[in-house]
Amino acid sequence: MICLGIEGTAEKTGVGIVDNEGKILAMAGNPLIPEKGGIHPREAAEHHSYWIPKLIKEVINDSGIKLNEIDLISFSRGPGLGPALRTVATASRALALSLNIPIIGVNHCVSHVEIGKLDTGAIDPVTLYVSGGNSQIIAYESGKYRIFGETLDIAIGNCLDHFARECGLSHPGGPIIEKLARKGNYIDLPYSVKGMDFSFSGLFSAAIRGFKAGLSIEDICFSLQETAFSSLVEVCERTLSHTNKTEIMLCGGVAANSRLREMLAIMAQEHYSEFFIPKISLCGDNGAMIAWMGILTSKYFSADTIENTNVIQKYRTDEVEVPWAKINNK
Ligand code: ATP
Ligand code: FE2
Repeated sequence: MICLGIEGTAEKTGVGIVDNEGKILAMAGNPLIPEKGGIHPREAAEHHSYWIPKLIKEVINDSGIKLNEIDLISFSRGPGLGPALRTVATASRALALSLNIPIIGVNHCVSHVEIGKLDTGAIDPVTLYVSGGNSQIIAYESGKYRIFGETLDIAIGNCLDHFARECGLSHPGGPIIEKLARKGNYIDLPYSVKGMDFSFSGLFSAAIRGFKAGLSIEDICFSLQETAFSSLVEVCERTLSHTNKTEIMLCGGVAANSRLREMLAIMAQEHYSEFFIPKISLCGDNGAMIAWMGILTSKYFSADTIENTNVIQKYRTDEVEVPWAKINNK
C-alpha cells in the first residue's frame, strides 16, 4: 500500500508519499508568507490551489514511483481554515476519482502525533503540539488521543507571530523572538493556567503594552517566552504525573525553539522520562504525516465515499478512534 497525502489546514501546502511500513518516499511543501498582516483564509486557499499540482508532480518525481502506483489518497480534513480545507479536499477528490483509488480524510492534530511517533520511536508519549494555530497537550487513553490541556484562546505560535507583527518585526515572529530573547532579562508578565488549560491573550496584551511603554524589546521577548513556555511545561508535567506515562514528545512549528526544548528536557529528566523531538521537517505541517495517517487509518477502517469527504473545521483530536495506538490492550 502506498499513500499520497495532501496537507493544507493553514498557510502551508504539503504533499507526501508514504508506504505501508512508514517509509517516507518523498515529501515537499511550500509556505505562504504574507507580505503584511496575518494569514487570510482565501489567500491560503489560493496558495494551495496553485501549489498542490506542482507539489504532486515534485513528489512523484522524487519518489521514483509512478502516479498509477499510488493506492490511496489521504487529505487533512480539519481542524483548519474553511476555504483552505475545501481546496485540499477538492484536489484530493479529483485525484482519487481520476486515479480510481480510495480516499480517506484524516485529522491534522492526530497526524502530528503519529508522524512524531514514527520518526522518534516513542510508543506512548504525552505530546505537546504547539504551532501557529494549535496548542494542545495530547495523550492516549481508552482508544483515543485525549486532550489533557489546551489553549483557551489563541495558540502560542499565533501569540508570538502577532506580537512580532505589532512591534514591526517580520513574519514568522517565533524565530526572531527567540533570538532577541537571548539578550533579555525577566520582567513580570501575566501567567495564566486555568485548571489544565492555558491562555495567552492576556500575556499578549501585556507584552504589547510593555512595548508601547518603551520597555526593552529583548526583555519583553525573553519574558514572553519564559512565561508562555512555563505554562505549557507545567501542564505537560501534570499530565505526565496524572497518566503515569514515561515519554514526552514535542511537535509543531514552535518545537524549533531551543528554550522550549531545554525547559521540557529538564522537566523530562526530573521525572525520569524520555524526551523525543521529531526531525524539524516533520515537526511543522507536512504531507508525509497526512499520508502516514492515511495508511494507519486504512489498516483498521474502510475508505470514505466521495460524498463523505466533507471537511470539519473544528475537528477535535479526541473525536478520532485510534485502534493502532492501543497500549497493553487498553
Ligand atoms: P498548524 O496548522 O498546525 O497550526 P502552522 O500553520 O502554524 O501549523 P507550523 O509550521 O506548525 O505551521 O508552525 C509555525 C509556527 O511556528 C509559527 O507561529 C512560528 O512563529 C513558530 N515558530 C517557528 N520557529 C520558531 C522558533 N524558533 N521559536 C518559536 N516559534 C517558532
Ligand atoms: Fe499543524
